[in-house]
Amino acid sequence: MRLLIYATSFLTFRGGVLQGCKYFCSALGFCVYLPDNCFVMDNRYRSVRPVLDSNKPQLYMETYGCQMNVNDSEVVLSILQDAGYSLCGDIKKADVILVNTCSIRENAEQRVWGRLDLFLQEKRKRRGVTVGVLGCMAERLKQVLLEHEAVDFVAGPDSYRKIATLIEDAKSGSKQMNVALLRDETYSDITPVRLDKNGVSAYISIMRGCNNMCSYCVVPYTRGAERSRDPQSIVREAQELFDNGYKEVCLLGQNVDSYLWLNPDNPTEKVNFAQLLELVALTDPSLRVRFSTSHPKDMGNGVLYTMAMYPNICNHIHLPVQSGSDAMLLKMNRKYTRESYLARIAKIREIMPDCAISTDIIAGFCSETEEDHLQTLSLMEEVGFDSAFMFQYSERPNTRAARHFKDDVPEEVKTRRLNEIIELQNRLSLASNQKCLGKTYEVLTDGVSKRSDLQLTGRTPQNKVCVFDAQGHGIGEYVKVEVVSCTSATLMAKIVK
Ligand code: 5AD
Ligand code: SF4
Repeated sequence: MRLLIYATSFLTFRGGVLQGCKYFCSALGFCVYLPDNCFVMDNRYRSVRPVLDSNKPQLYMETYGCQMNVNDSEVVLSILQDAGYSLCGDIKKADVILVNTCSIRENAEQRVWGRLDLFLQEKRKRRGVTVGVLGCMAERLKQVLLEHEAVDFVAGPDSYRKIATLIEDAKSGSKQMNVALLRDETYSDITPVRLDKNGVSAYISIMRGCNNMCSYCVVPYTRGAERSRDPQSIVREAQELFDNGYKEVCLLGQNVDSYLWLNPDNPTEKVNFAQLLELVALTDPSLRVRFSTSHPKDMGNGVLYTMAMYPNICNHIHLPVQSGSDAMLLKMNRKYTRESYLARIAKIREIMPDCAISTDIIAGFCSETEEDHLQTLSLMEEVGFDSAFMFQYSERPNTRAARHFKDDVPEEVKTRRLNEIIELQNRLSLASNQKCLGKTYEVLTDGVSKRSDLQLTGRTPQNKVCVFDAQGHGIGEYVKVEVVSCTSATLMAKIVK
């Protein structure tokens, strides 16, 4: 089956043009039809890297928050590069300063307020500098941000097509704001200009917004309703990245498992996430595919079977649990229980025994008791997460939790619980890494080690960071390594033939 699929992929993508595509989707066991012209490739080589030109108006950008924000900044750069701007890395040379912001926790917003004060100093030193605030804070705070002396315009996540006009209008003296959320915007026709350092791994946004309404979370309000991007443009973007030398793509969405594209011309034609994953994996067997974030209530077995089927889909699932207590999960509106989460974990391990599982955890959500907290610790032990992002609950204005529940766990209790969670995860990460000792992995190299120029860093399919002597290898190569020692954060390895 795999050979057949790869052969189809070769004809499809290398040939450049294929009309009326039909794919056998192994995950679901039936054929997926995509419309005529869906994979018409533009054979012209197109660079996806920034083009720097000091004669053009200079654009300086800072990005805070999640991978989605990084990818949004890449879309903005693409739009502004087309409008005649050139990226620059030095704020002192900038004609336009943009800050792409995050609202997920209070401290993320505090950091941006601090940056705005610094941008104001820059504006006072040099006349004619325009400052724009983009992203979630722009959407959430609107006028409040515009009132800051440094800010010339505010642009929400769905307004980026109009950003050149916003800058021009702001330059002529009046403050500007566009915070409209659009039901259909996916920026599908825009090729992001990549901001990563090494040209190895790139993000592809497959959907925008979120419909889940977890009670603590501000994202559904700042990014709007969920919408899925068409699969044709996603596959085209993966191919374009591969043609530009990229070796890995990461498909991004707030909840990738609810990805669902309906052909507007024929709504019976659908592509779900398992099918999309397969289409992207078919780009080339040497292109690694990752994705984030999965939702425990929506992650079906189809995705797991597709992952197991394609060696180039990395064996790693980021499956945020948030809490191990059913009472907290209910209050968080997560729509799963501890038991059903553990059943998902068991299924992942049944289908892919070597699949790494990471998670997100919130400590000290509204009315969390010591018993709830202990439930989180015991769930962590039971799953044995390979890694985790761990946070203290931060109340966000106007969320369901802010409106209906008291943020009543004292700050010092939240901090103590978070520290216990972090301490446990360090132990679990070390135990997970120790299981790798003596094993061999194919690692995609992505950088030079901080400690020595003679050593490279790379990631295993399970997303574990490896450090090893380069032995003549460079960045963006696949090398086979054997793990010789480890810490909780890193595998130390040696190259094997
Ligand atoms: N407080 C703390 N953590 C939060 N997250 C989302 N909202 C909040 C909040 N109000 C965390 C969740 C989510 C991750 C991206 O951020 O764990 O999965
Ligand atoms: Fe926020 Fe929940 Fe949507 Fe994730 S799934 S972005 S936590 S509302």
